[in-house]
Amino acid sequence: MKSDRLASVTAIVTGGSRGLGAAFARHIVSHGGKVVVADLLDDEGARLVDELGVSARYVHLDVTDAAQWASAVAFTVAEFGALTGLVNNAGVATGQFVEHEPVEHFRSVLEVNLVGVFNGIQAVIAPMRAAGGGSIVNISSSAGLFGLALTAGYGASKWGVRGLTKIAAVELGTDRIRVNSVHPGMTYTPMTAQVGIQPGEGNYPNTPLARVGMPDEIAGAVGYLLSDEATYVTGAEIAVDGGWTAGPTVKYVMGQ
Ligand SMILES: NC(=O)c1ccc[n+]([C@@H]2O[C@H](COP(=O)([O-])OP(=O)(O)OC[C@H]3O[C@@H](n4cnc5c(N)ncnc54)[C@H](O)[C@@H]3O)[C@@H](O)[C@H]2O)c1
Repeated sequence: MKSDRLASVTAIVTGGSRGLGAAFARHIVSHGGKVVVADLLDDEGARLVDELGVSARYVHLDVTDAAQWASAVAFTVAEFGALTGLVNNAGVATGQFVEHEPVEHFRSVLEVNLVGVFNGIQAVIAPMRAAGGGSIVNISSSAGLFGLALTAGYGASKWGVRGLTKIAAVELGTDRIRVNSVHPGMTYTPMTAQVGIQPGEGNYPNTPLARVGMPDEIAGAVGYLLSDEATYVTGAEIAVDGGWTAGPTVKYVMGQ
């Protein structure tokens, strides 16, 4: 175990079977916390919790389904005695011009990426109140901080997650439930590998650090927000993006 800074945390991580969610689950357990990985990918999720051991469980969850959320929350409390953390990470991506994105597709992306987060927030309020407080970390994106071409439904959903985070933060503060958003930049996962993203120095020159991130590099911010080091942090947005949203790089400005 790397530390016990998350020893008081029992968290659900949605979309936790692979990619960023799996990195968050590994981080939570390696810092002493307990995790329930919740996903549609049952086999990958089961393999991950086997690897993580006694502090991890898997539950099938479609984040768009409020009834499944109720079951996942009840399962978590039954297995670990309380629920104090939620990482709303499940998401799907798009890659179309606004002009060409079918409205059905736009709606379906919002359903997972935004309604799914809304469902999660609603589902954990009662158990977090019962536990005396908690921390909700919503995974938005750089695409929720600036206008990113080819992300009509995706970008709109991630801006929505950023706004919903702040609304929940102001409403739930007196319950000692903190709500924050994390905005990863381009990160190497199955989602981005599908569109040809590769890790490596110099491979992503539009970003000041000139490379894409790795999932472990995003996990620290999530762990911080779940931990007692962040007891006065709510309604915040943390960009973990190699500087992507800080502004255009010199190469970009100089047209090189
Ligand atoms: N990879 C990046 O560059 C990047 C950048 C910014 C934000 N993000 C966000 O981080 C999150 C994780 O992305 P990733 O790159 O690991 O993607 P990924 O596709 O590798 O993993 C996403 C996970 O979400 C699960 N999922 C999808 N729909 C679901 C549903 N309805 N219910 C439950 N689970 C569902 C998938 O089964 C999968 O395990 C997403 O919200 C994504 O938008 C990713």
